[in-house]
Amino acid sequence: MKIVHFSDPHGGGGAEDFLAYFDKRWVGVFNYTFRRRFKHDLARLGRAVDYILDTKPDVAVCTGDLTSTGQPGEFQRVLEYLKVLRDSKIPLIYLPGNHDCYVRRPKCVSAMRDAVAYLNQGAFVFDDLPVVRRYGDAQFLLVNTSRPSNLLCSWGFLSRGDTEFLERECAKPKLGPRILVAHYPLIEHHPILRTRHRLFGGKEALSLLRSGAIDLSLCGHVHRPYLEIDSTGRGEECAGSVTRNGTIREILWDGAEFHYRTIDL
Ligand SMILES: [Fe+2]
Ligand SMILES: [Fe+2]
Repeated sequence: MKIVHFSDPHGGGGAEDFLAYFDKRWVGVFNYTFRRRFKHDLARLGRAVDYILDTKPDVAVCTGDLTSTGQPGEFQRVLEYLKVLRDSKIPLIYLPGNHDCYVRRPKCVSAMRDAVAYLNQGAFVFDDLPVVRRYGDAQFLLVNTSRPSNLLCSWGFLSRGDTEFLERECAKPKLGPRILVAHYPLIEHHPILRTRHRLFGGKEALSLLRSGAIDLSLCGHVHRPYLEIDSTGRGEECAGSVTRNGTIREILWDGAEFHYRTIDL
């Protein structure tokens, strides 16, 4: 089976209402205006979509951060690029990143929820998470690790309930490769250095990955792509930012091992 994984397009824009200057959005808007917009090129997302439509994988996976500050207009801008993929026959998984869950402002939260329902082609809504989905031979465990955090940090959290869900699913007989999909990486080599950006509560999930109960973790959040895998391709795959690096990852499962191809767009 074939999976195509992309992440972190980070479409952005200016403040969409004056309250944006009074919550965390001003940090994201500032960041986007003076930094991100020079680094992230949405045209690369369009090329990623074209590639996926040509390749016709069993499933396409997007691990979040569609936006920079989670405002409705930003979602709209990025969804225009993804619409043709969403409306195709190719199954699509999307889980929100921390930038998609930036603030608690109701219109931002509902834009994120709408994006989850829309991009997952009606298969589930945000409140259904965590969920299990089957595509091809593989079982996908989908968990949300993103929620609003304070002004200076981009923390992710794996809740007790989500951890219990993973443990429960992993205790069942394995019928194919088990793939965890979340925005945040489980493997962090320098958790102290990454304190401002890291995942909390992921220890048990990491043990499940290390023990082989979970075969593969697909994540984004880190904008430089990486592979932390063993000789059978099991481990963690981070797609990096599609609009920053212009790369996406093709993952092939041959019935015993995972094989990876980095696609340069
Ligand atoms: Fe990101
Ligand atoms: Fe992120």
